Amino acid sequence: MTIQPTHDTKPQPQRAVVLHIEQPNSRYEGARAKPAPSSLELRKPEERLAEAVNLASALGLNIVHKDIAVLKKYHPKTLMGVGRAEELAEIVEAKDIDVVIVNAILTPSQQRNLEVAVDAKVVDRTNLILEIFADRAQTKAGKLQVELAQQLYQRGRLVRAWTHLERQRGGLGKTGGPGERQIELDRRMIIDRIQYIKGKLTEVEKERDLQRKSRERQGLPVVSLVGYTNAGKSTLFNALVSGDRGAETEDAFVKDMLFATLDPLMRKIKLPSGKECIISDTVGFVSDLPHELVKAFASTLEEVTLSSIILHVHDSASVESEAQGADVRDVLLSIEANEIPTISVANKIDMVKDLPAFLEHDAMAISALTGEGIQNLLEEIDMYLAKDEVTVNVEVPAADGKKLAWLHANGQVLKQEMEGETWHISVRLKEKDLYHVQ
Ligand code: GTP
Repeated sequence: MTIQPTHDTKPQPQRAVVLHIEQPNSRYEGARAKPAPSSLELRKPEERLAEAVNLASALGLNIVHKDIAVLKKYHPKTLMGVGRAEELAEIVEAKDIDVVIVNAILTPSQQRNLEVAVDAKVVDRTNLILEIFADRAQTKAGKLQVELAQQLYQRGRLVRAWTHLERQRGGLGKTGGPGERQIELDRRMIIDRIQYIKGKLTEVEKERDLQRKSRERQGLPVVSLVGYTNAGKSTLFNALVSGDRGAETEDAFVKDMLFATLDPLMRKIKLPSGKECIISDTVGFVSDLPHELVKAFASTLEEVTLSSIILHVHDSASVESEAQGADVRDVLLSIEANEIPTISVANKIDMVKDLPAFLEHDAMAISALTGEGIQNLLEEIDMYLAKDEVTVNVEVPAADGKKLAWLHANGQVLKQEMEGETWHISVRLKEKDLYHVQ
């Protein structure tokens, strides 16, 4: 007796092939010009393939085949050669593949041509990352930012199609055909939508600004967690905010999935000295982050630029940790956050015997999972925050309520005694704020 399939409510995961493309050095001039990330030479094709597989799995795809294609030549039509495309088509047919993930950036026409050649949906790296972000966005702001990224990406593609048509027309000034009119219509729709989302995002940002101002009024320094996706930021965030230090214990969203954190999460914690600070979790970084995404997430990343300290979390167990670290530094540089004091954190030490050489000397070794090293890290944060602080004795006339309020808002008042009509106050202040009391 054969068992008839029941009505399964769970959709079957789509079957996918992941193909990492090693491109030839000389690029076809029509290809999207993109400066090579500084860490590119550090990565082996196998590792880049493994990362692409990870990204695809993050979308819930069932990866049934993976491969690396080393291209000797750039093929403008399909990126890869005809032989390679035919091979891919055979795999698609034999293994009943729904989606082909190409770990490279494809032009719109290359994507279309490949789809025809292999008879399956083709997704390139930018699209893959956009899909994951869309899947993970939780809050209103996160969803808006993802949609903005998608629209900016679409607009970029249309502009390229438009330029191509213009070139075909040879600049004779004739009005365009139906294809051209459609592109123009699509372009207008996208521009309108971008305007709309930007408006909505401005509202959300205003709200965030208010929250930021209220934090500033409380004089709380912000410590931002940054790191390559899956480095363990959310796990560390939870380790830092939980425990018996009087912190709130609400969990960040931690799952073994990439980009669990799309919207900055913030919690107040108490450091060993008794001083309070805000810990902020941020979006995970990936290499070759599509620039539309960096732009769309500018306001999330802006939180990083406003922080007092950055904790750069590394996955010590990953063979790629050095290259990933370089990618993160590239993004920090691009958002001008590279001057902010940064503590390197070597996470996942429970998984390794030795730290990677580049982390050996000045990283704080921790395991966010077991809690090892967390106390040391908190003490280090304390020390960093106290670095540019000094203790001063100030005399304030009792009538000067404004100055008194300022000291309480911006410093840590250690002692306060009234003598006659004068307050004698011992207070810890930032060096940059000293002029207020001189
Ligand atoms: P994104 O949201 O993608 O940016 O990831 P993330 O950096 O926030 O990583 P997350 O905290 O979600 O951790 C990723 C995976 O690593 C999870 O499976 C964690 O359980 C695991 N992990 C985190 N820290 C440690 C650690 O110290 N040791 C071990 N063994 N696993 C860890």
